[in-house]
Amino acid sequence: MQLLITGGLGYIGSHTVVELLNNNHEVVIVDNLINSKITVLDRLQKITGKKPVFYQIDLLDKTKLDEVFVKHQYDGVIHFAGLKAVGESVQKPLAYYHNNLTGTLHLLQAMQKYSVKNLVFSSSACVYGLPASVPITENFSLHPENPYGQTKAMIEQILQDLAVSNKSFNIAILRYFNPIGAHTSGLIGEDPQGIPNNLAPFVAQVAVGRLAKLSIFGNDYETVDGTAIRDYIHVVDLAIGHIKALEKLNQNPGLVVYNLGTGKGISVLEMVKSFEKASGLTIPYVFAPRRPGDVPVNYAECSKAEKELNWKATKSIDDMCADIWRWQSQNPNGYPDK
Ligand code: NAD
Ligand code: UFG
Repeated sequence: MQLLITGGLGYIGSHTVVELLNNNHEVVIVDNLINSKITVLDRLQKITGKKPVFYQIDLLDKTKLDEVFVKHQYDGVIHFAGLKAVGESVQKPLAYYHNNLTGTLHLLQAMQKYSVKNLVFSSSACVYGLPASVPITENFSLHPENPYGQTKAMIEQILQDLAVSNKSFNIAILRYFNPIGAHTSGLIGEDPQGIPNNLAPFVAQVAVGRLAKLSIFGNDYETVDGTAIRDYIHVVDLAIGHIKALEKLNQNPGLVVYNLGTGKGISVLEMVKSFEKASGLTIPYVFAPRRPGDVPVNYAECSKAEKELNWKATKSIDDMCADIWRWQSQNPNGYPDK
């Protein structure tokens, strides 16, 4: 298939591009580099031996985006491009609504105009907000608790309305749980700007000496060891989930929604122990108060994706930590600028 990948130089997009190229799909990437580096393109070529077509374009620039639809024909689109930092979305809600919603509207308008009708969309487990129980199934109600999560829920609604209005659209909404890990080559991985907000990249930067110690937010939750529980999923498993979703869209299912996780909850302390095992290092940490807005326990029910997509996460938390460590130790300062 010939595919348009928005946000394809970002963390999840780049890993998905590798799997697509290795499966002989052709890829056109659109990314404005607001949260990624151009060097990712060279790394993709090193891993796959192929150089994807790349356009540095902002989805907010409707004219330039249209040109990418004129230049190439697509069998489908995977839409990763968006801003994703929860805290920043609270500080800059208008920037988040503008980028994520307007960017998506421009993309959908172009898809409609040029008759590209298969779309995979990156949603997030954060659309569920504080779940009434766990595991979380796809039919739980949506209660996003921050502007970032709101943009995901709103885009899901736009996609539902589009699918109702035009039956020729096939749309897979994928709700990711906590993507972590890196490609086994160590050539691509997660490279957050500034001090990481998320657990895995924070631990990795402590291990490599960029940060002094980890603060574990909360050790008084009602969990195995008092620390919060999440469903961490290896980014390569997640990437493969996108290929399975594209295959599903070829069966003309209309709009479909899937949780992508492992279905297994891991505590913060369990993750730290696994990382210590992978790196052979000790991760210094202190317990700190709970982080406002955090849910104590969050993990997915993934049987729908297993049944309908024939997809299941295969990699363990030890695999995830080993791969993060390989990436971070080979690239202690992340990607070079060029
Ligand atoms: P990322 O920031 O690494 O990748 C997103 C890419 O989109 C970046 O390369 C960025 O430069 C690009 N981009 C952003 N706005 C753009 C615009 N207007 N025009 C063109 N390019 C633009 O993020 P990621 O972790 O790879 O996440 C990919 C998608 O998955 C996002 O939509 C994110 O919200 C969603 N998601 C991520 C997580 C996670 O924990 N990483 C969890 C759930 C959902
Ligand atoms: N944590 C720490 N110390 C840190 C960072 C995180 O103890 O320095 C804890 C958090 O309090 C939480 C757990 O580690 O209990 C996981 O935190 P992350 O920030 O890694 O992940 P979240 O589940 O909070 O949020 C992530 C993404 C969201 C996405 C959500 C989907 O940041 O964008 O997963 O479930 F919406």
